[in-house]
Amino acid sequence: MIYFDNAATSFPKPQETIDSLNDFVRNVGGNPGRSGHALSTEAARYIFEAREKLAGMINACDSERIIFTQNGTESLNLAILGLLQEKDHVITTSLEHNSVMRPLMFLNKERRVDVSVVQCAANGSLDAKDIKKLIRKETKAIVINHGSNIIGTVQPVGEIKRMIGEITLIVDACQTVGSFPVDIEEDNIDVLCFSCHKSLYGIQGLGAIYMRNGIEPIPLKFGGTGSRSEFIEQPLFLPDRYESGTPNTPGIASLLGGLSFIEKVGIGSIIRKKQDLRRSVIDGLSCLPGIVIYGDQGNGNQLPVISFNIAGKLPSEVGYELNKRAIYTRVGLHCAPLAHKTIGTFPEGTVRVAPGYFTTDDEVALFIEAIKEIAGRT
Ligand SMILES: Cc1ncc(COP(=O)(O)O)c(C=O)c1O
Repeated sequence: MIYFDNAATSFPKPQETIDSLNDFVRNVGGNPGRSGHALSTEAARYIFEAREKLAGMINACDSERIIFTQNGTESLNLAILGLLQEKDHVITTSLEHNSVMRPLMFLNKERRVDVSVVQCAANGSLDAKDIKKLIRKETKAIVINHGSNIIGTVQPVGEIKRMIGEITLIVDACQTVGSFPVDIEEDNIDVLCFSCHKSLYGIQGLGAIYMRNGIEPIPLKFGGTGSRSEFIEQPLFLPDRYESGTPNTPGIASLLGGLSFIEKVGIGSIIRKKQDLRRSVIDGLSCLPGIVIYGDQGNGNQLPVISFNIAGKLPSEVGYELNKRAIYTRVGLHCAPLAHKTIGTFPEGTVRVAPGYFTTDDEVALFIEAIKEIAGRT
């Protein structure tokens, strides 16, 4: 089995993820922040440590400004639905995932929020000046994909923030955190939304959002927080304001293991290894006739997420053939129809290859052999 779908969720997970999850479920299991007993406080310790490590990962000085959510999608919904009000204006790009576009389209219908979409070039690049041209007095936020889940392009979010000034910058970092350096201070990011089950190696069902001091979206959920129980109103302090109900503590425990793994190996070597794998996949595919690779193929700001097609074959056919050989990629539109229109592959989409830290050179070689064979068939 060769798993090349790490952009959807990483697999396999490091042993540290499994051990931490196992330890929590076997030996801890309490509901954090709800009761004063030892298992409850131990569960809270897992959450505290994971939050602290996450803060270190994105260079946030206040870990309490990191909120755990169910996934990257919930983080984006909290930011978008919670910050944009009736008749606001928002700017986004043509590379966005539906986890950005769908909440924006909902707001367009329900709150008459005006949505401007900046067109990216077919290679994924964006001219920051195109964003500036669209700014007007009602513009409340720019929502931008940090790293494309289709062609891996990384956008210059720091440059964009310098240009937009006080306007809130909401960054969809689902593909970048853990796979590319993310520094909220250096890039002056206001809101960072991300998944914890992709390059942070937690299990599925966990995401997070960081919000700069002064950014206060309306919560998506209200309810028990275990704190200030004498009040029937939602507490206003963080993280409790945005973390109602029993959290996914097993997921957070797994994340703690994943973050320990990243610390042990070093984020720099993880990024380097994934970049080398990206290079090998692109070089291998480029040698084959009839293969079209999308996006920029240089060694610049790119994630290890590669989209391609075989001339004369539908991506679904290629995916079917790969699946028969136990090579697992993702084919189709990858929840980002506008991005496929941008790169010229709508409506069929592409075959997406996303190697991960545990991918080996042999697996890449077997994959290239398989593509050669599939491409050679009539
Ligand atoms: C760019 C991007 N944004 C948002 C999401 C949604 O993240 P999640 O699956 O954690 O909800 C994904 C997931 O693939 C993504 O790639």
